[in-house]
Amino acid sequence: MCGIVGYVGSKQAYPIVIKGLKRLEYRGYDSSGVCIGNRDGITVLKEKGKVSDLEAYAAEKDTSGSISIGHTRWATHGVPNRENAHPHFSGDRKLSLIHNGIIENYDSIKKALINKGHTFKSDTDTEVLVHLIEEIKNHEQVSLFEAVRLALNEVVGAYAIIVMEKGVNNEFIAARKGSPLVIGIGEGEYFVASDASPIVEYTRDVVYLDDGEIALINKDADLEIRTIANVSKTPFIHELELSLEAIEKGGFSSFMLKEIFEQPKSIIDTLRGRINPKTKEITLGGILDYEQKIINADRIIIVACGTSWHAGLIGEYLFEDLARISVEVEYASEFRYRNPIINKNDVVLAISQSGETADSLAALELAKEKGATLLGICNVVGSSIPRLTHAGSYTHAGPEIGVASTKAFTTQIVVLTLMAIKMAQKKGTITKSKYHEIITELELIPKKIEKILKKNDQIKKIAEKFKNATNFLYLGRGYNFPVALEGALKLKEISYIHAEGYPAAEMKHGPIALIDDDMPIVVIATKKGNYDKVVSNIQEVKARGGRLIAIVTEGDTTVKELADYCIEVPDSFDGLSPLLTNIPLQLLSYHIALMRGCDVDMPRNLAKSVTVE
Ligand code: AGP
Ligand code: GLU
Repeated sequence: MCGIVGYVGSKQAYPIVIKGLKRLEYRGYDSSGVCIGNRDGITVLKEKGKVSDLEAYAAEKDTSGSISIGHTRWATHGVPNRENAHPHFSGDRKLSLIHNGIIENYDSIKKALINKGHTFKSDTDTEVLVHLIEEIKNHEQVSLFEAVRLALNEVVGAYAIIVMEKGVNNEFIAARKGSPLVIGIGEGEYFVASDASPIVEYTRDVVYLDDGEIALINKDADLEIRTIANVSKTPFIHELELSLEAIEKGGFSSFMLKEIFEQPKSIIDTLRGRINPKTKEITLGGILDYEQKIINADRIIIVACGTSWHAGLIGEYLFEDLARISVEVEYASEFRYRNPIINKNDVVLAISQSGETADSLAALELAKEKGATLLGICNVVGSSIPRLTHAGSYTHAGPEIGVASTKAFTTQIVVLTLMAIKMAQKKGTITKSKYHEIITELELIPKKIEKILKKNDQIKKIAEKFKNATNFLYLGRGYNFPVALEGALKLKEISYIHAEGYPAAEMKHGPIALIDDDMPIVVIATKKGNYDKVVSNIQEVKARGGRLIAIVTEGDTTVKELADYCIEVPDSFDGLSPLLTNIPLQLLSYHIALMRGCDVDMPRNLAKSVTVE
C-alpha cells in the first residue's frame, strides 16, 4: 500500500510530486505528506485525509525547491494522523524518509535505539528505519548511501523507500524489497514512484528496481545501483508503453465508471493478436514454451486474492470442464502459511491485477522453493509477479485505478478462457466444432457487453429501490457461482452494505434463515448451466418473501414471473456467461454506492494494491 513519489532535477518539485501523489492515491489515502529541499533547508507539509487536503493545507505555504519526496499513506502501524504521516525524520531532522511496506522487526530495533538515546515522535514502523540509518551514519561515519545499505541489512520486512538529506539538493536514495519502485530518467532529472503513472507525463525511459537493490539518484550523474550485499548492477532501461490518457478519467465522473464502460475495449485489447483471424488458432506468446508443461501438469494450483481469486474460481471451472486438467484455487494468504503439498509437476498460477499483492508473491516464492512451474496472469506490465514467474500472460486491460476491480476481472477471465481452450485443443479434450463455437462466442463478447452497458439507466432505477438495504444475498451456480461472490464483494467494498455470495443450492443449508420480506436477493439465472435448478432455488426464496433481482438471458419468461426485477443479458456459451452477468452487478454496486454518498474510487479502509500481508 502507500504511494511514494520523488523528484530531483531543476524544475519546481512540489507540483510534480503532488500530481504524482494524486495518481497514486488509489494505493492509499488516509494521510499524505511531502518534504521539499531548498536553499533554506527543508519544508515539510503533512495532512490527514486525501492528497487534496494536503494540497489545501499547502496552498499558502512556500513550496519552492527542486527536490522533493511525497507519500500517500495506508496505515499499517499507527492511526492515520499528521504525526504518523510520512515523511519521517531522523532525530536531528537531517534525514527524511518515505516508506511503502512494513518493517517487521521494528520493535526490537526501536528498543535498541531507545537504549542508545533515540526518541520517537510517531507510532510507525517507518520512523524506526530512518533513526536506524541516522545511527549507522553517525556511528560508522559512512555516506548516506552506505548507511542506508547497512541499515537495510538489519531490516526484516518489505519496503520501497526514498531517503533525502537536508542541504543535499541534487540527490536522494531509493531502495526496494517486496514493494514496487520505478525510476524515470529525464534530462538532468529523475523521477521515482511506486508505479509508472506519475512518471509517464515526463519520460518514457524507466528502470524497475529489483528486490534488494538500492539506487543513488543524482540529477547530475548516471543512475548508480547496488544490491544490499554491495554488488554493483547495471541499470536496464525499459521504454514505457503506458499512455497518459489511460490514467485519466476521460469525461467520466469516476475511474470505476470509466473502467466499467471500458470493458468492451479492454477485452478487445486482451484478445488482440492472440487469435488468428483466419485459422482461429490461439497464440499466447508468454506461455508458448510452457504449454506442454501445463498439459502434463499433475494439477494447476491457482493462487490469488479478492477479485482475482474469484476469477481463479472461474478458471478452475474452465480448465476442468474444457481441458480436463485438475485445478485447485487457493487464497494466497492461506496457501503460503498452511504447509501445502507442492510438487515439481505442479503448475502454480498467480492471478493479480497489480502483480504486487504481497500474499500472492509469497505464495509463488513458496512454490518456487518446491520446484513448481510458476505462471502469472497480471495486468501491470513489469510488476513483481511477471518478473518472478517462468511464464505468463498479461491481461492488457490498461491501468485500473478504481480500487474496486472491474475490467481487470473480466480480462482475467478472458485470458483464462484462452489458456483453457488452447490447452483443451492441444490435449484433444474438445471437438473442433466446440473450439470454434467458443472462439466465435468469445469474439462476440465485447459487443454483448456494450448492449448490457446500455441498460445503465434501468440498473440505476433498480439501485434506487435497494439503496437503503442493510444486507444482500447473491446466488449463482456453476460458472456463475464465482460471479455471485464477486457481486457481493463489489457491493460490500464500495457501498459498505453487508453482502454474501453463495452457491444457490447451499442457501438451504443456512443462509435461507436470513430471508425475510426485506432481504434483497440477487440471483444469476441464465439459460445455460443449471437453469432449472436455479429456478427451483428462486422458488424457495420467493416462498419466504425475499425481494428478487434476477440476471436472466434475453427472452426469459419463467424467472420474469417470479422475480421483482430482471436484468437481461445476451445468451452465450455457459463458460463465458460470467463476462456478461458480472456487468450488471458492477453497475448495481456502483449506483447504490453513489446514492449512499460513498467514494467509489477510494472506498474507506481499502487500498488498490495490497503490498503488505
Ligand atoms: C477488488 O475489488 C479488490 N479491491 C481486491 O479484492 C483485489 O482484487 C485484491 O486485493 C487482489 O489484488 P490484485 O489483483 O492486484 O492481486
Ligand atoms: N508501515 C508504514 C506505515 O504504517 C507504511 C504503510 C504502507 O506501506 O502501507 O506508515
